[in-house]
Amino acid sequence: MKVSVKVPATSANLGPGFDCMGIALPIYNTVTIEETVLPGTGVEINVIADSDAIDPMSLSHIPLDENSIIYKAVELLYNSIGQTPSELKITIHSSIPVTRGLGSSSSVIVGALLAANELLGRPADEAALLSIATEIEGHPDNVAPAILGGLIIAAQEDDGSVTYRKLEWPEEWAITVCVPDFELATEIARSVLPKEVPMKDAIFNAQRLAMLMYAVNTKDSELMKTALKDRLHQPYRMKLIPGLDKIMDNLKHIEDVLGCVISGAGSTILVISKKNDLDKIRNIVKETWANQNIKCDIKTLPVENQGAQVITNED
Ligand code: HSE
Repeated sequence: MKVSVKVPATSANLGPGFDCMGIALPIYNTVTIEETVLPGTGVEINVIADSDAIDPMSLSHIPLDENSIIYKAVELLYNSIGQTPSELKITIHSSIPVTRGLGSSSSVIVGALLAANELLGRPADEAALLSIATEIEGHPDNVAPAILGGLIIAAQEDDGSVTYRKLEWPEEWAITVCVPDFELATEIARSVLPKEVPMKDAIFNAQRLAMLMYAVNTKDSELMKTALKDRLHQPYRMKLIPGLDKIMDNLKHIEDVLGCVISGAGSTILVISKKNDLDKIRNIVKETWANQNIKCDIKTLPVENQGAQVITNED
């Protein structure tokens, strides 16, 4: 049997929604799991770059042995029905840039879980898959939109279940995804965060996240400008993304820009704007980074409202 699952990229946090909000984007990884015919073989994992935007060197950082999150995802699902995975060949076709804050790890966790679930006759429902994926990733803000598509707000409860709601992203807002040519490992980007934050910063974020929800629901662009701010992670991570402070400053002068945020843990940044002046926005980011000798790939993308999908299921 052979199952392939196509999973979208995701951008987590969106400013104030640290570890609880994320949005799916139309860049994809495909995870294929095949049962092999040779009894006694283990689990073989291969990763193939499927797009020019992927630096094959960056794929070499992905562990392919039993320490891999891909293996862990498959193993957890098999264990949940009292089995151990073996005689499997897993192939990842990768178009989502790696270690750039676009949910490439979440996409392979979600793809491996969904493909293994199909192979096993769907023992896990969507709620169980969300819960297992969140357990592996540690927070739901990438895995939830990867599974469900769209803009998702999500939280994991003490019993492991994930509560979520899907919001509708306003058609009139553009998302410009700016991917620089340098990697930023999530562990490094999380290691610079403090263990505790001042109460005034926690309040600042609660206010902004509440405003963001209202702004999205009512398509209120002026409110969104106030909402797309953060004090829980961005101030600490700015130093890891050279030129970001200058990009933010330079974008402030453009009326149609609603905000500029770090995508997930970085290094990618998102510019949220109305659908005017997009060339100007892209040029500002490109030129500001060029002044720092940073090359980048910039695309304005729609939201992917469809989550992970099984695209092949053959006996
Ligand atoms: N919310 C996470 C973070 C996303 O910002 O660290 C990346 O895993």
